[in-house]
Amino acid sequence: MELRRKMAQLASKDRFSFHMPGHKGRFPGLFGQYDPTELPGLDNLHDPRNTLKDAQDRVAEIYGAAKTFFLVNGSSGGIMAAITALVRPGELVLTPRNCHKSVLAGLILSGAMPLWVDQTLCPTLGHWLPPTAAALEGALAPSIRAAILTSPDYYGYVPDLASFIGACKKRATYLIVDEAHGAHLHWGHGLGLPPSALPLGADLVVQSPHKTLPALTQSAWLHVKNPALAGPLQETLNILHTTSPSYLLLRSLEFAGTWADTWGAAALRRLYYLAKALSLRSSQLGLELPLARNRDWSKFLLPRRRGTEALLRSRGIYPELVQGNLVLFMLTMADALAPAGIAALYALLPSLAALSPMASEKISPPPFPRQEITPREAWEKPGQRVPLARARGRISRQVLAPYPPGTMLLCPGQRLETEHVEYLLDLQAKKVIPSWLEVI
Ligand SMILES: Cc1ncc(COP(=O)(O)O)c(C=O)c1O
Repeated sequence: MELRRKMAQLASKDRFSFHMPGHKGRFPGLFGQYDPTELPGLDNLHDPRNTLKDAQDRVAEIYGAAKTFFLVNGSSGGIMAAITALVRPGELVLTPRNCHKSVLAGLILSGAMPLWVDQTLCPTLGHWLPPTAAALEGALAPSIRAAILTSPDYYGYVPDLASFIGACKKRATYLIVDEAHGAHLHWGHGLGLPPSALPLGADLVVQSPHKTLPALTQSAWLHVKNPALAGPLQETLNILHTTSPSYLLLRSLEFAGTWADTWGAAALRRLYYLAKALSLRSSQLGLELPLARNRDWSKFLLPRRRGTEALLRSRGIYPELVQGNLVLFMLTMADALAPAGIAALYALLPSLAALSPMASEKISPPPFPRQEITPREAWEKPGQRVPLARARGRISRQVLAPYPPGTMLLCPGQRLETEHVEYLLDLQAKKVIPSWLEVI
């Protein structure tokens, strides 16, 4: 079916959105029809001097950054630029194994060598728990040029940023934080939300306002705390940015920052009470999950039961993710403005609780292959596409990071042994990944 028709069809069904984008269609002013290019007076994203510079400076001031860059290719673009700006070929970058696939793109572009930090998989819920402070600090050798951490992750989990930032500063290691899911945290004071990495002192923080604030899909920004890094960042962004950035996206970034600065704290406070009502009712109904306390509660999680997705859809409720035995609902400030979606979900909780539970299966962590060469070295070599079963003993040239949530499974430069191939074959049988792999 034509995309235009498919979108119209979906728009009529998707009445209560609990997924990205964070504006949830409640800000009609965002969808203006005027789509200009760099006309006189509209400034230039590659060398901002007036209108765009003012908008970026205003957002920097709101967040307390030395400099903020607007991005039109999501946090993905910002993460690639951050790594490429800071790290040279062969230098070490420390990163937990559940990083977003854009980190791999940054490693390929920069030529850096990843040093993977291991994590524990929650055996009942099947998502990665954040790396512990001990694992992070234990891995932080003096030769590491930069570290990149995700905080919060797709499920709202955060590592102990404060202690790790201190450790990075002692060793002069740059810290980049993938805060794609945390643009709203700035307004969460006193609401039990984890802190943003920016006031804690991370060097670079990348956020996707399109996920949690009223901004258009793809629009993101990168905050620079360490002013010495602003020049290299602008140069790197200038080679990665499109030469035709959408002013609709740029304008939506200006709007998201100023709107949240005016209304964000009040909207988030209201959302907090709505989310509390949801979680209280769901635990009364036995829909409780064993979740960590220090977590972003705006990622509301429920256990998946048989038929959960169909029941939600029948009421026009579209969650962000239904995966394994979890259902993830993204609550944003937009839900506080028009809580009909939360009311519909609240009303449906007893029916969700009445569904029969899924068979509980203990989930074991996927085995992690050894990184033998840099992702760039692997990428530069001629590859061969082989059926997965024949990839044993070979080095991957390919990124495997099924979306959502785009978490890394396999990085170029990693060698596949029997256990890795068996794990991938299992995923292939579940149609999560393709049946072939590009290897060298
Ligand atoms: C943890 C994390 N980092 C980065 C990104 C990339 O963000 P964007 O979609 O804005 O490029 C995502 C996207 O879902 C993500 O989940």
